[in-house]
Amino acid sequence: MKTMLNVALPKGRLGEKVYAMFEKAGYECPSIYENSRKLIFENEERFVRYFWVKPSDVAIYVERGVADIGVAGKDILLEYRPEVYELLDLDIGKCRMAVAAKNGFRDDPRKKLRVATKFSRIAGDYYRRMGRDIDIIHLNGSIEIAPILGLSDVIVDIVETGTTLKENDLSVMETIVPISARLIANKSGYKFKGGQIDALVERLALQTEERK
Ligand code: PRP
Repeated sequence: MKTMLNVALPKGRLGEKVYAMFEKAGYECPSIYENSRKLIFENEERFVRYFWVKPSDVAIYVERGVADIGVAGKDILLEYRPEVYELLDLDIGKCRMAVAAKNGFRDDPRKKLRVATKFSRIAGDYYRRMGRDIDIIHLNGSIEIAPILGLSDVIVDIVETGTTLKENDLSVMETIVPISARLIANKSGYKFKGGQIDALVERLALQTEERK
């Protein structure tokens, strides 16, 4: 028996791209275009219900089973390691996690490196692998300002076009990992609705293949 598939979508530009992919896959919900403030939309004929949530919260909704599936950036999955299945790389929302510093910065290995970031775990894991002793300064946004004001030596942050770094006289020193949007699923939800979810994954995968 088919039941409603609950989908957590990241609010914003990425979410709109994701919804367009779901729509093309046959999971349209036309009322989504009617009201820009509403956060829950459903189409009973297509057995689908969408929730718009903050991008960094998608994995929480999916992990706790309120949503069966959702779309989250690989950055969030690496940072918070939610207990979910990662089903598909949607090949959108592409960017990279990188170390950046003021132009001309030279690392002095005798000193602890001060690293400002929103992604403390990713930064910690990276420098542990490098065997470099660091001091993590956890910030919540505007990370780029930290090395300019002398709060940190480097930052670990997302770089997409590179414009933010350039406009603040910073440059990339190393790329840590490429990032893109991933389709994730709740583990027990997948047991019950696996057939429905697999059919959707197959259709979304066709679209990512077409783009290659
Ligand atoms: C990210 C990141 C950079 C910016 C990079 O911020 O933190 O500030 O995008 O993009 P660019 O290379 O194209 O300039 P985002 O807009 O995701 O939001 P945030 O400020 O909450 O981190």
